Amino acid sequence: PKVVYVHADGTERTLDVKEGQSVMAAAVLNGVPGIVGECGGELMCATCHVYVVSPETDGPASDEEDEMLNFAACPRRANSRLSCQLAVGPDSEFVVRTPEAQN
Ligand code: FES
Repeated sequence: PKVVYVHADGTERTLDVKEGQSVMAAAVLNGVPGIVGECGGELMCATCHVYVVSPETDGPASDEEDEMLNFAACPRRANSRLSCQLAVGPDSEFVVRTPEAQN
């Protein structure tokens, strides 16, 4: 599985990610800028906000995630998700855009 992180300045980074890892955890472990993940994936911070470019649908956000997204530093859009809640599946290929700021 792979995740492509596209940054606000147009640069991007592609990671090979372990199945089951979250898009947030992979970024933090590999020093990818633009995702902070302050709470460690507990749905308490919204500093892992991303805009999902693909896949187009990755299921709806849970009620808790939906609520926490309102606290993201950058504007919430239709494709906003908290990347700690995006688990990478065996054949996943995520492309996510990181927002300009996380806090
Ligand atoms: Fe805190 Fe995702 S890491 S909500």
